[in-house]
Amino acid sequence: MKNVVVLGSTGSIGKAALDVISRHPGKLSVYGIAGSRHKNLLIKQVMKYRPRFVVFSGENTGKNRIEKTECLYGEESLEFLATLPETDIVVMAISGLAGLRCTLKSLEQGKTVALATKEIVVCAGHLLSGKKGKILPVDSEHNAIFQILDRENSGVSDITLTASGGPFLNYKGDLGKVSAKQVLSHPVWKMGKRISVDSATMMNKGLELIEAFYLFGVSKENINVVLHPQAVVHGFVRFCDGFVKAVLSIPDMRYSINYCLNYPERTDCGMSELDISRIKDLSFYSVKSGMFPCFDLAKEALKKGGSYLTALNAADDEAVRMFLEGSISFDRIPVLVEKVLGKHREVCVDTPDDILALDCQIREQVRATADLFFR
Ligand SMILES: NC(=O)c1ccc[n+]([C@@H]2O[C@H](COP(=O)([O-])OP(=O)(O)OC[C@H]3O[C@@H](n4cnc5c(N)ncnc54)[C@H](OP(=O)(O)O)[C@@H]3O)[C@@H](O)[C@H]2O)c1
Repeated sequence: MKNVVVLGSTGSIGKAALDVISRHPGKLSVYGIAGSRHKNLLIKQVMKYRPRFVVFSGENTGKNRIEKTECLYGEESLEFLATLPETDIVVMAISGLAGLRCTLKSLEQGKTVALATKEIVVCAGHLLSGKKGKILPVDSEHNAIFQILDRENSGVSDITLTASGGPFLNYKGDLGKVSAKQVLSHPVWKMGKRISVDSATMMNKGLELIEAFYLFGVSKENINVVLHPQAVVHGFVRFCDGFVKAVLSIPDMRYSINYCLNYPERTDCGMSELDISRIKDLSFYSVKSGMFPCFDLAKEALKKGGSYLTALNAADDEAVRMFLEGSISFDRIPVLVEKVLGKHREVCVDTPDDILALDCQIREQVRATADLFFR
């Protein structure tokens, strides 16, 4: 039996991970879970999955008493849970950087981390290598590339990630007038708010380029993105002899989560199979420069590297928050990110503390910049 710890269990990936675990009774068990604002859901999950531990965010209020499940609190408890000898695999699905230290600690302890949280790879990719533990990428595109490279990694010419293009791929209207509801209605995936907005601006694919650079050690010029609205093909690897391998599945995050949780075995998780004879159309288009300003900004940040990557992530996250709270329009997200990145000068990001401090500074700069230009 593998003991699985699901950090961010109340979110979109966390819920999908719990569903996958419940499809493998006797093989996978929920050992610990953690969430933040959705406390009632977290308690419901405790009642349903009966984990040994649950971590609530914030301070211990002394109010939570649950039979047979130990209640823990705050970031240090995430680290405790993710490094316990009994923990076999950690699903890191906490949005943002709240799970950064915990991810580094669990990798240092030699744990396997099924890593969904791309912010951690974008900002701290340079701190992830050389650790005892193993990273299994959950993001469907990276999971696809991992599946190919894990079996065969010599003679690789380049890798290609697919992008659905989000809700505004062929949109002709005014992006300054689109509502949060329109932005959050992704045509293929049901995801958390930030990643949904990022998919609409294509910042998400930019972050994924950076993620691929750190996860696969392929040079920056050899990582490509193609638009593929059906989101059935997740990634391609081209080899030097002209052959290209691709990984396909129904677009549902539970496939890649199932792959990670059962790795290195392949196990049926009882979900529908992709019926190849019914695929009517698989289309691919190149992403032209200027089509998605956020994607271009991410490519530029990847070229510069270093602290520009933390600055990019923080600026975008804060701009997305401002859009969701109604203080800026959708089309101002790239404008704000560009203005803040334009002023950024390289700083040291050698430790998690450096990264978290820069993240805070950039967020303040985003708010100040918006006040200056947009109010
Ligand atoms: N959704 C996808 O299809 C997908 C695909 C690929 C990669 N990812 C990546 O996976 C990560 C999660 O995405 P998501 O869509 O699942 O986001 P989400 O639905 O917003 O879920 C985020 C999770 O993080 C938890 N959380 C936030 N701050 C926390 C803290 N301080 N302590 C403990 N838990 C905390 C949230 O708890 P509460 O809800 O209780 O506040 C929630 O469980 C992101 O980095 C995203 O980029 C997502």
